[in-house]
Amino acid sequence: MTTQQVETGKTVRFRILRQDNPKGASRWEEFEVPYRPGMNVISALMYIRQHPVTADGKPTTPVTWDMNCLEEVCGACSMVINGRPRQSCSALVDQLEHPIRLEPMKTFPVVRDLQVDRSRMFNALKKVKAWIPIDGSYDLGEGPRMPERKRQWAYELSKCMTCGVCFEACPNVSEKSSFIGPAPLSQVRLFNTHPTGAMNKDERLDAIMGEGGLANCGNSQNCVAACPKGIPLTTSIASLNRATTVHMFRKFFGSDHMVD
Ligand code: SF4
Ligand code: FES
Repeated sequence: MTTQQVETGKTVRFRILRQDNPKGASRWEEFEVPYRPGMNVISALMYIRQHPVTADGKPTTPVTWDMNCLEEVCGACSMVINGRPRQSCSALVDQLEHPIRLEPMKTFPVVRDLQVDRSRMFNALKKVKAWIPIDGSYDLGEGPRMPERKRQWAYELSKCMTCGVCFEACPNVSEKSSFIGPAPLSQVRLFNTHPTGAMNKDERLDAIMGEGGLANCGNSQNCVAACPKGIPLTTSIASLNRATTVHMFRKFFGSDHMVD
């Protein structure tokens, strides 16, 4: 504790939903953390990890969570803070209602405490081939040039940090549904628009026309409202609806659709 904290004696109360393992029962625990001006939720969690004692003085186990970049870029530290899924590294204690409630995202299986398994999202990205296959065995030189306006547009979609918040916000993503979720759909639009990525456009469209694909979107629009990066998810989904319709007709009529 710093001199300033000792002097002010001010503390912040946290209520944390804890779970010891994936199959364990969950329980709430409360912690009292010394206040520091400008502190974020992760700095409070770090204090709790170093001082694993509940607010009523009972020793407990250190709380676990995921984090990496600490600057809202990697998406690893997502959790539900006061009922809203968001990144704990950019959640400032001064801007939150107290006591501060921390829960793991419910869409993903809990590993332990606030740490969840986001494999569902990464598997969906694999399913839609959200990458550009290139031969890395020799120097390919510069990639194809893109018009500046298109590059700027693509940059907005490329800001997805696979944080999982749009999955948590979407009513159609659940353990009972195979929906691949909003973020992977938007990545299909990004890679299909890239000059090199377009080579695999048809495979990506086929992937989202199958089970768990576009048809599972209920258009609730929650995803776009929740995305911390402001990614136009619903615009991407609408655009993919058009693209898959055209793709379906071309396949049906057997047109030579590989030349456009
Ligand atoms: S689209 Fe937005 S909310 Fe969804 S995973 Fe990417 S950054 Fe997170
Ligand atoms: S630690 Fe990377 S987004 Fe929070």
